[in-house]
Amino acid sequence: MFVLAHLSDLHMALRPRLLELAGKRGLGYINWHRGRKYIHLRETLASITQDVKSLATDHVAVTGDLINMSLPREYAAARAWLETLGPPHDVTVIPGNHDAYVRSALGGPEKYWGDYMRGDDGAPSGTFPFVRRRNGIALIALSSGLPTGPFMATGQIGNRQLVRFAQALEQTSGLFRVVLIHHPPVSPPSRHLRRLVDGTEFRQVLAAHGADLVLHGHDHCRAILWLDGPDKKIPAVGAPSASARTTHRHENAGGYNLFQITMEGNAWRCEMLARERGTDGNIGEVERRALL
Ligand SMILES: [Fe+2]
Repeated sequence: MFVLAHLSDLHMALRPRLLELAGKRGLGYINWHRGRKYIHLRETLASITQDVKSLATDHVAVTGDLINMSLPREYAAARAWLETLGPPHDVTVIPGNHDAYVRSALGGPEKYWGDYMRGDDGAPSGTFPFVRRRNGIALIALSSGLPTGPFMATGQIGNRQLVRFAQALEQTSGLFRVVLIHHPPVSPPSRHLRRLVDGTEFRQVLAAHGADLVLHGHDHCRAILWLDGPDKKIPAVGAPSASARTTHRHENAGGYNLFQITMEGNAWRCEMLARERGTDGNIGEVERRALL
């Protein structure tokens, strides 16, 4: 059995300096100061990290929004956290929109988290998609994080990545293919300004080439939807924020998901175990579901 943990949307924020508050970062800080700072707590993240480490996982996927405003000190703090989670061989990271918050921060994820964002082929970090093979599992990592205007949090994969994505799915056929992307493949109209802009094209590649599991974050909700594949439906599973102290509007309390992946006969089996922080501060299983 291969056990994969999926964490997302840590939003590890640090108090910015005055000079760092120009433009979108200033608006973002007001938003953070008014509410989000009471939701995303280091203490919650620490207890969830401890819970992950107490279980026998083979690999951890972190699907973006590790930080909040793409400040250099935030990248460095997230790097320190990653090192507590595990070595780059056993932890795979992709960026979210908050990791590429402003244009001046482009390249930050590669600079600070590069060895957690690199494929087996040795290509430089920042080359997406990248592919990691671990014991019959293929992790195919996409980047949808890019700077946007104020009050927007859209993501985009882009044609170049989509072409390479299709190739990666073909090259890993027969392995258990796990696709990592920050933005959900489909968003409701209410999240139009937070959607994956080329979600249709993303789903078309999956429908043509197939995959076994899609993991995403961004919405801070536990969610499962089923996407079309060439011969079977593909589960797309969203993780809650791994730092949320409590539920917030439509969002779940802090938690993460575990996937137990096995080969039975000629078929892959995958069971999802959702773990969540309760009001008593303890983390426990809240859902168990066979996906494949
Ligand atoms: Fe996000």
